[in-house]
Amino acid sequence: MSELDRIVIRISAAEIAARIDNLAHDIRAAMPDDTLMVPILTGSFVFAADLVRALARAGANWPLDFMTLSSYGTGTESSGRVEIVRDLREPVAGRSVLVIDDILDTGKTLLFARDLLRGRGARDVRICALLDKPARRRVELAADFVGFAVTDEFLVGYGLDKAGRHRGLPYIGAIES
Ligand code: IMP
Ligand code: MG
Repeated sequence: MSELDRIVIRISAAEIAARIDNLAHDIRAAMPDDTLMVPILTGSFVFAADLVRALARAGANWPLDFMTLSSYGTGTESSGRVEIVRDLREPVAGRSVLVIDDILDTGKTLLFARDLLRGRGARDVRICALLDKPARRRVELAADFVGFAVTDEFLVGYGLDKAGRHRGLPYIGAIES
């Protein structure tokens, strides 16, 4: 049996789409019109593509710039040593920033991103994570906008990968052993 055959759907494509529409309305209501959206690559690229379009439908046509961060880890555990692989081109000083990521796990990646942007003088840094695994947190950090709280199991699909695979699945699933 291939790994793909052992993936069990945890959150369907329809559930994700409905939740993102709600998130977009909450974010639009909470943040100013000049907000810079910063998806953290690579994991957030599918979520970000849907979220920015939901935000546009909600009336928020905000600027966007990507940052690629990497926490070189082994297998399914992040090392916590976060590195900037590709930096922003947009200045953030004095701006309101919405950081977008696939999942808030140990929290080390998003803590690094928040502190980096604050250190560069961002006026306000808010975090939007599609998934939140509170049981795994290793640093004190909460997201301002969360799609779904999930239990402590490794998830793939909708941008999330295992060893680089499964990012294109339209749903979020767990790999059964
Ligand atoms: P952190 O541990 O909060 O720093 O999360 C770092 C990164 O680990 C996330 O952005 C994801 O790319 C990845 N990650 C954490 N949990 C999972 C998971 O369940 N599936 C796939 N990737 C994950
Ligand atoms: Mg990631």
